[in-house]
Amino acid sequence: MHSVVNTHQAEAWNGYEGAHWAEHRDRYDAVNNAFNDRLLSAAAIGERDRVLDVGCGNGQVTRLAARRARLGHAVGIDLSAPMLRQARAGAAEEGVANVTFEQGDAQIHPFRSGDSPSSASSGGSTGSSGRLSPGSTGSSGRLSTGFPGDLPVAPGDLSRDLPAPLSGDLPAVPLGDFDVAVSRFGIMFFADPVAAFANIGRALRPGGRLAMLSMRSLADHDLGGVFAAMAEHLPLRPASTEPNAPGPESLADPARIHEVLTGAGFEKVTSTPVDAPQTWGRGTEDAAAFLGGWGPVRFALDQVDEAAAARALGALTEALRPFEEADAVRLRGAAWLITATRP
Ligand SMILES: C[S@@+](CC[C@H](N)C(=O)[O-])C[C@H]1O[C@@H](n2cnc3c(N)ncnc32)[C@H](O)[C@@H]1O
Repeated sequence: MHSVVNTHQAEAWNGYEGAHWAEHRDRYDAVNNAFNDRLLSAAAIGERDRVLDVGCGNGQVTRLAARRARLGHAVGIDLSAPMLRQARAGAAEEGVANVTFEQGDAQIHPFRSGDSPSSASSGGSTGSSGRLSPGSTGSSGRLSTGFPGDLPVAPGDLSRDLPAPLSGDLPAVPLGDFDVAVSRFGIMFFADPVAAFANIGRALRPGGRLAMLSMRSLADHDLGGVFAAMAEHLPLRPASTEPNAPGPESLADPARIHEVLTGAGFEKVTSTPVDAPQTWGRGTEDAAAFLGGWGPVRFALDQVDEAAAARALGALTEALRPFEEADAVRLRGAAWLITATRP
C-alpha cells in the first residue's frame, strides 16, 4: 500500500471494524443495498466507462459498476485489507473479470502517472481546510471510526506508512482518466476532505462525473432513535468537538458538501436526499446481536461495565422490536446522493 495519511481510519478499518464488515459481508450489503439503484442510476455508467469506487469496502458496488461497464473497467480502492479480500472473493465467485481492487488511501493515492502522495496532499495532519484529524480510541484501546461515543485523541503521526497486510500480488490501479467516480458511504472518513476530493478529481478525466452517497444526520435515520434509547445507559460523548471531524456524519450537511466539492474543484454539485430501508437482521434478537457487534455500538459498550452494557443491549433490543416485519428488521436509512462534474 502507498502512504496513508488517514492513519487512525486505516487502523480501525484494518482492525475490529474492518474485520466485522468483512466477516459479515452479506449482512452489511443487506443494510446498504437498497441505495444501489439510486446511486448507479445517478452514475449513468456506460458500457465502455472506467469507474472508480472510493472506499469500496467489500466491493458490491464496484462489481455492480463493472457489470455496467461491460467493455470498460471498475477499480475499487479501500484502506481495509480484510474487506478487499472479500471484494476480490466476491468478484471471483460472481465471475466479474473487469474489476480491480487496490489498497490505498483515496485522499492521497497516486491515481495518475506523475502523481505522488507528496504532490497530491500536504501530508494530512492539516490540509486546505486547516483542520486536524482527530483519531479516536476508547479506554479499551479500540480504534473507532468517528461515531458518537468516540473519544478524541491527539492526531499523532498521520503520514507514516502502514505495513501492507496483504501479499504483494496486488495489481496496480490503471492510470488515470476515470469517467466516473462512485461511492456508497466510503467518503465520510477523510482527515482533509477537500484534499481527498481534489485527488479524486485528478483521477477523473475532464468532464468526468461523480455520484456518491454520504450519510445524513443520524437523527434523520430510524437508527437515531434506536441509538437514543441505548444512550440512556451509556455515557456517550460527542464524537469530537470539531463539527466536521471525520466520521459517518462529516458530510451530513449539504452546505458543507457543496463547500468541500467546489473547494476541491468540482462544479454542478447537487445533493439529493434519498431514503432506503436497511435490513439489520431476520428478527429483533438477531438484529440486536448484529448491531451490538457493529463497531460504533461495540465501541460505546466497551466504555461501560458489564451491567450497564447489558442494560444498553436490552434497550437496543426493545428499540428495534417495532421495526420487526414478517421476514426482517428494517429501519429507514437516510443519505445524500451527491453528484458533481469535473470541469
Ligand atoms: C461505511 S464503509 C462502506 C464500504 C462500502 N462502500 C459499502 O458500501 O459497503 C466505509 C469504507 O470506506 C473506507 N475508507 C475510509 N477512509 C478511506 C480512505 N481514506 N481511503 C480509502 N478508503 C477509505 C473504509 O475502509 C470502509 O471500507
